Amino acid sequence: MAACHFCFKSYNASMNSPPPSARLATAYFEKSGGPFVCLTAYTAPIARLLDPHVDLLLVGDSLGMVVYGLESTLHVTLDMMIAHGAAVMRNSSHALVVVDMPYGTYEKSPDKALYNAKRIMNETGCSAVKCEGGQEMAATVKFIVDSGIPVMGHVGLLPQSVKIMGGYKIQGRDEAGAQKVMADAKAIDTAGAFAMVIEGTVEPVSRAITQAVSIPTIGIGASPACDGQVLVIDDVLGLTEKPPRFAKRFADVPAAVTEAATIYAGDVRARHFPGPEHIYGKK
Ligand code: KIV
Repeated sequence: MAACHFCFKSYNASMNSPPPSARLATAYFEKSGGPFVCLTAYTAPIARLLDPHVDLLLVGDSLGMVVYGLESTLHVTLDMMIAHGAAVMRNSSHALVVVDMPYGTYEKSPDKALYNAKRIMNETGCSAVKCEGGQEMAATVKFIVDSGIPVMGHVGLLPQSVKIMGGYKIQGRDEAGAQKVMADAKAIDTAGAFAMVIEGTVEPVSRAITQAVSIPTIGIGASPACDGQVLVIDDVLGLTEKPPRFAKRFADVPAAVTEAATIYAGDVRARHFPGPEHIYGKK
């Protein structure tokens, strides 16, 4: 039996069994292997478009805000994450897919966290789950990892703790804050996560964490020194009304949508659409 280093599946090359899945596995995310390219994806068409270009697709609970127009991620449910995670899995074949554990599904007890992580894994087919938190979540992360489910950590600015943090505040600005994020990152590393997001954290602290931990750090509003970067796809496409300062717009999709809608409306009103090629006749 040959084992594919980057994929979960083992395969028997001598028996002409199907080739290993081309999908990247968590083992691909080695500390020295970056920079890793990561984006969020929530829907089938976006997953299809992004999949060939990225190493990791994150079905983030940011979908609560960008897809559903909710005020924060706090009202996102497990069923929402599973529905979108399954859509992204069905429409990708290359990138590692990670699905966020939403608020209220993992903080209370390691047992409940494992039960919900299993639901996400089984019902979406994704490769890993992500949970927010540092030292206070380390035991839970270890419990899930020890049960065979890969976990991505998330330290620094924690959107699910927006009420406790008093807003979406950049972390690590003072010495105590810097030490806390560093301790959080080390705890998640020791707990066995395969990678961690560092969100909204000052550059020197993100850089120091990246040097201090043994797993890849994936920055968002963190540091170019991180082992990879992730952005919310709606920010990348220019679809977010007030994007955070750390997000860069790489395309003007609203302009394309506005142009298409304007031309369509004109064509319908002028009875230019549908044309003969768009209608059906009798036999
Ligand atoms: O939910 C999300 O999209 C995230 C990213 C911001 C990392 O967690």
